[in-house]
Amino acid sequence: MTEYPFTAEAKRRRTFAIISHPDAGKTTLTENLLFAGGALRLAGQVRARGQNRRTSSDWMKIERERGISVSSSVMTFAYRDCMINLLDTPGHEDFSEDTYRTLTAADSAVVVLDAAKGIEPQTLKLFEVCRLRDIPILTFVNKMDREALDPLEILDEVADKLALDVVPMQWPAGSGSRFCGVQDLIKGQFLPFIKGQEEPLAAMALDDPKLEQYLPANERAELADAVELADGGYREFSLQSYLEGHMTPVYFGSALRKFGVRELLDALVDLAPAPSSITGLRNGEPVVQQPGAAEVSGFVFKVQANMDPNHRDRIAFTRISSGEFKRGMKLKTIVGKTMTITQPIMFFAQDREIADTAYAGDVIGVPNHGVLRVGDTLSESGKMQFPGLPNFAPEMLRRARPKDPMKAKHLRKALESLAEEGVTQLFQPMIGADMILGAVGQLQIEVTAERIATEYKLDVLFEPCPYSIARWVVAKDDAALENFAERHKMQMAKDVDDAPVFLAKSAWEINYAQEKFPDISFTATKER
Ligand code: G4P
Repeated sequence: MTEYPFTAEAKRRRTFAIISHPDAGKTTLTENLLFAGGALRLAGQVRARGQNRRTSSDWMKIERERGISVSSSVMTFAYRDCMINLLDTPGHEDFSEDTYRTLTAADSAVVVLDAAKGIEPQTLKLFEVCRLRDIPILTFVNKMDREALDPLEILDEVADKLALDVVPMQWPAGSGSRFCGVQDLIKGQFLPFIKGQEEPLAAMALDDPKLEQYLPANERAELADAVELADGGYREFSLQSYLEGHMTPVYFGSALRKFGVRELLDALVDLAPAPSSITGLRNGEPVVQQPGAAEVSGFVFKVQANMDPNHRDRIAFTRISSGEFKRGMKLKTIVGKTMTITQPIMFFAQDREIADTAYAGDVIGVPNHGVLRVGDTLSESGKMQFPGLPNFAPEMLRRARPKDPMKAKHLRKALESLAEEGVTQLFQPMIGADMILGAVGQLQIEVTAERIATEYKLDVLFEPCPYSIARWVVAKDDAALENFAERHKMQMAKDVDDAPVFLAKSAWEINYAQEKFPDISFTATKER
């Protein structure tokens, strides 16, 4: 293949997502990664309130109120000779679909664990989402400055619950008030931790006479024993196994104390993969699109409405997969929608800027009026199609009603627009004027109500509805579909793309319908 000069640009991209259980320290780590990368002058700005807040990782009102991060976004910064694209993912299991989509745009992931808690149930769910794609995972055990579980216990848990080979790259000396630092098991150096020290000290050789200052003799002896055990007890790190998603290197630190953050960033640069090729279809034929290919291509993994309350347009977060994107380029979707991208946005720690160029691994925000949907492929030829991103069937259905009955039309528009973001679903029964919202969980319903209130100035009520399960209906042919729909008129609905949906009262009802109508399949996911 021809090596275009810009291929080197793709190679220096590191595009990754951080996933964690709420409260494990994702925001703090994000902030301090940006700080370590020189992208923030003062740590604390990701959380900073005020005008700039919308550009930061969790900018929505509900996020501020609840202290959770519910909308994914991206932040770009330079570190060493790499461009780092950090994709933020929601930390709540209600948003695992959103996380899944974000991960399709990431080349690797960092899992953050709270050292006192290990793997929490929600982390597990998000992690399973990671495993769907065998994405390479680095593990960061955070909050070592607090009383922590035994490192062996944490590592065992990661290995057991996540079914991954674990390789500690460092070993901590104590935790909480006894935390002295970590030993780098690869380089054989010690990285001392001093509480209250803003600028972490440099790593020192194990025979450095100054070491005793930071690591008293008794702690040192304990650490030496633990390291010996660790050396014998774990496999050697294999880059290939990590890249294949079977092995996770584990790092220890304290995001809040800025300890171990630079080491994690170095590991991302040294170990995490640059963008790789992606398989798609060109003119219906499978092709492997290399990051350094001549043609610019990319795909939309997230659509966010109303990022700017003054404008009703939407931002389509587009991950570039190949080529050298230049501002003003015309890119097309497979169904012939053409976009001249004059205002591509890049998201930096504190600013959004218009991007003049972007390469594989980069994420650009493409403002549009609802033309672009999650899962759309954009390419210069308009002939490329990357695999669609699935929609997952919602786990909770609610009837939506405006408080003010005169506002039904407005509410429908708002719900449609949010459904087009691909986060919640809107089902329109074939009969009647009900609007049924499908969500993954209660929190998502609350977030939707909050967004409708702030972004559309509408009060909405979400009420229980007779149905608890929605399944997309795929039929052998039109006649089979018609026959089924005719007999289930009251339970048939359409989603925002007009795809037929069966609303059922229980899983039993789906099974029953399946037995009676073998020509129909009921699917919990829909490829876009
Ligand atoms: P999240 O995005 O994963 O939900 O977690 P976040 O960073 O918001 O951190 C959750 C809490 O844990 C915060 O405390 C934060 O300061 C604390 N934290 C994060 N990393 C560390 C660490 O390495 N050591 C210690 N000791 N604490 C850490 P909070 O009291 O909930 O919030 P705040 O008032 O400090 O902002």
